[in-house]
Amino acid sequence: MKLFTAAKTVRENAHAPYSNFKVGAALKTTDGTVFSGCNVENVAYPEGTCAEAGAIAAMVAAGQGGIAEILVMADSEVPITPCGGCRQKIAEFGTPDTLIILASPDAEVGRTTLGALLPGAFVPAHLDAGA
Ligand code: THU
Repeated sequence: MKLFTAAKTVRENAHAPYSNFKVGAALKTTDGTVFSGCNVENVAYPEGTCAEAGAIAAMVAAGQGGIAEILVMADSEVPITPCGGCRQKIAEFGTPDTLIILASPDAEVGRTTLGALLPGAFVPAHLDAGA
């Protein structure tokens, strides 16, 4: 399934009664498998999770890793980009070249990369250097 269609479908299931801001995310792994997720809010606001986190959790639960591209979809005038925490989560399984596709429910509206959104990411090599 195409990333756009997967994100649009899963976004319908978002649980966003507090923000009323539904987000869908769909990623493609380096071997071509697609996983999707939606935001899941909670009455205890900080316990809510982002759509990207859901897609990444589904990927890991399926025993996979390695994000080649990820599409994030919301219905907003300004195209949304992954939040700071999600950029770091994507970095765990991506590279600076990982493609980030921004979309509204109607169309793809932009493209960027993880490296552009999260320059100087904290990566495992930093832990090695400290050992
Ligand atoms: N949200 C996401 O799911 N992904 C993002 O990249 C940005 C924000 C969600 C979190 C919250 O449920 C709602 O959007 C409003 O912030």
